[in-house]
Amino acid sequence: MVPSSAQKVFYLLIYFCVVSAEAGEKSSEMEWCFSQVKGAIDDEVAEADLISAVEFNYTGELLATGDKGGRIVIFQQNPENKSQPQCRAEYNVYSTFQSHEPEFDYLKSLEIEEKINKIRWLPKKNAAHFLLSTNDKTIKLWKISERNKRPEGYNLRNGPYKDFTSIASLQVPVFKPMDLMVEASPRRVFANAHKYHINSISVNSDNETYLSADDLRINLWHLEITGQSFNIVDIKPANMEDLTEVITAAEFHPNQCHTLVYGSSKGIIRLCDMRAAALCDKHAKIFEEPEDRNSRSFFSEIISSISDVKFSHSGRYMMTRDYLSVKIWDINMGTRPIETFQVNEYLRSNLCSLYDNDCIFDKFECCWSGNDRVVMTGSYNNFFRMFDRGFRRDVTLEASRENCKPQSVLKPCKVSIGFEISIDSVDCNKKILHTAWHPLDNIIAVATTNNLFIFQDKLK
Ligand SMILES: *[C@@H]1O[C@H](CO)[C@@H](O)[C@H](O)[C@H]1NC(C)=O
Ligand SMILES: *[C@@H]1O[C@H](CO)[C@@H](O)[C@H](O)[C@H]1NC(C)=O
Ligand SMILES: *[C@@H]1O[C@H](CO)[C@@H](O)[C@H](O)[C@H]1NC(C)=O
Repeated sequence: MVPSSAQKVFYLLIYFCVVSAEAGEKSSEMEWCFSQVKGAIDDEVAEADLISAVEFNYTGELLATGDKGGRIVIFQQNPENKSQPQCRAEYNVYSTFQSHEPEFDYLKSLEIEEKINKIRWLPKKNAAHFLLSTNDKTIKLWKISERNKRPEGYNLRNGPYKDFTSIASLQVPVFKPMDLMVEASPRRVFANAHKYHINSISVNSDNETYLSADDLRINLWHLEITGQSFNIVDIKPANMEDLTEVITAAEFHPNQCHTLVYGSSKGIIRLCDMRAAALCDKHAKIFEEPEDRNSRSFFSEIISSISDVKFSHSGRYMMTRDYLSVKIWDINMGTRPIETFQVNEYLRSNLCSLYDNDCIFDKFECCWSGNDRVVMTGSYNNFFRMFDRGFRRDVTLEASRENCKPQSVLKPCKVSIGFEISIDSVDCNKKILHTAWHPLDNIIAVATTNNLFIFQDKLK
């Protein structure tokens, strides 16, 4: 009898969630409670609602999400509940606005999607908040400001003009309180500098410049100047037929404003020092793991492509994500990563099918905990994984509507593989590409298709 695909799921990939009974030392970053889920519950998910970016601000009180429809939703940590440890991870909608619209490039007859590829907050300088958002081509700087007063009592505004001769006295307009209004306004538009698709933006620690990276080039911008940018990396070969490698992710160092790194489709990370030359075509350092010749296959290069690179908060380490693993690098050692964590090793025997259905090109992101001790990244079947670097422990958790009673503890899932794992048991539609970790607290945000889950650590 040939099992139906539903049966195959059952036979071949059996995962179950257990209450962790292991005793011993555990870091609180590995045990999580459900706090909230945002977004509609419908089974039918509109394409435009798919979440494509998640980002906390520097103190974690604001959480921004971007979606495929070009919208940005900002959530604010509930101020009243913040001091109560058990419900400090409650976020409410603070502002929603349309950041990007679909466009059409008439010269190339190409549609430009409105999808938000990345969001980056700027450090706060005054009462307003600023963030950068980008789609494939255009970066925008948004100002988000609050208003709870409005001027009233103008002499001439509002309504029919009065006869001047009848005005006996001038009244002084006064500010009157009103309901809080949060306004988002576009302050700058940085356009026409990228021929290929923008995959990364990163704000420099000088707080004045930022970079934007596409497949072949990295540009440096001043936040105040939209008319020009400087090309700092260009890997475009003279002849496009010689193209063997593209840029997949780039980031500035968190405190050395002259240092940046970029990852490539060949799994190589290059560190550039802008003090050395205006055009950083010659990298200062290279990070590359020696190739294991025994496991070489047609897919080797595809699965080693870097889908994300993130410096630790301290700036000492760097984390990279590729299709099957997360690697931690010491920035002083380029020869091999100091830690490698397997995220999806069970997929290795199925790369062929994952290539056929394009899943192999999924770009998973990764993030550090506030103290750099734990790293988190997503997987399929709405699983996300955490790796505790000190205790060398890992956990698989599931973001699902089924287990979201307030403050219920997330049960670690065990993925155990039967005889051989079938591709049918990997639900490629349920994947967690984007996650974010509160910079100062153990609160995490995990985006499934159109839902944003917020979890907090379990209180002891
Ligand atoms: C959280 O704050 C809201 C008011 O903003 C309050 O109604 C609610 O009871 C608080 N939650 C808890 C558990 O204290
Ligand atoms: C993050 O947002 C909160 C809430 O508005 C604000 O108080 C804080 O200053 C912001 N942090 C930074 C560093 O921008
Ligand atoms: C940039 O902003 C951050 C956060 O506000 C601050 O800690 C840092 O000192 C600033 N850096 C410079 C060079 O002004």
